[in-house]
Amino acid sequence: MRPPADAIGTLSLIVGAIALLIFIGVEGALVYAIWRYRASRQTAGEPATFERNRRLEIAWTAAPAVILAVIFVLTLGTMAEIHGAGVPPAMRIAATGHQWWWEFSYGGVKTANELHIPVDTPIDLDLTSADVIHSFWVPELGPKMDMLPGVTNRLRLFARRAGSFDGQCSEFCGVEHAWMRIRVVVQSQSEFDAWLRTEAQPRATTETGGERVLLSNICVSCHTVRGTAAAGTAGPDLTHVGARATIAAGALPNDVARMRAWLVEPQRYKPGVLMPSVPLSDADLDALAAYLVGLR
Ligand code: CUA
Repeated sequence: MRPPADAIGTLSLIVGAIALLIFIGVEGALVYAIWRYRASRQTAGEPATFERNRRLEIAWTAAPAVILAVIFVLTLGTMAEIHGAGVPPAMRIAATGHQWWWEFSYGGVKTANELHIPVDTPIDLDLTSADVIHSFWVPELGPKMDMLPGVTNRLRLFARRAGSFDGQCSEFCGVEHAWMRIRVVVQSQSEFDAWLRTEAQPRATTETGGERVLLSNICVSCHTVRGTAAAGTAGPDLTHVGARATIAAGALPNDVARMRAWLVEPQRYKPGVLMPSVPLSDADLDALAAYLVGLR
């Protein structure tokens, strides 16, 4: 199959070409009429009157109807194509919108905000929402699709080349709608398989000071770190948070200094975010930030 954006682009060109031909035809007829009958301005007396012309009326009713019917059929074909008609998906990934982050589940292996997919492979996303209406949109890889609470919508993604593709929630979903970024990392099949194997592992770390801080604070009521007692589901799964390029759904780059600043005062970087500030000592903050960024 080809990327959905290509199919949409082809349809846009066809519709644009039809519109251009109509524009040229109408403007051409107008200019011709002005030129051809310009002399009649000087003619005195009553302007000419017209009897109704049945053939002309049929023609200018039928022509737009035919043009619209053609565009309608082409649109139906394009809609079927971009939703993957006849091409079964190689993989299904569950995607859930939250205020204000994305959850991706690969058969139970959960991650957040950064979606990894293999290149040249048709992927179906099963979209839903945990709270309000969001909309998943990565323009280069697929059409836009709403995420509705209680409903599962299917979205086909297809990437022709490896790389990093950015998207954005495109349905206003609250104060942090704008900081609900999506990053899709398109990888070769072997790179993707290696990534998924790592994601499926419990957390790997030898640094336990930060883990003690995490487990003895309210972090655990919202976040999961597989391999520890932390099993909250309200916030993003943090088992491999250190491997992600950003934190807070794109609001900050992911490094120890930014992670620490985020933990001190999430509201400063993402006003309205549901994550509370947890009062921690400087030493605990240092340990927790280093621990989280180390979860790769
Ligand atoms: Cu989620 Cu806008």
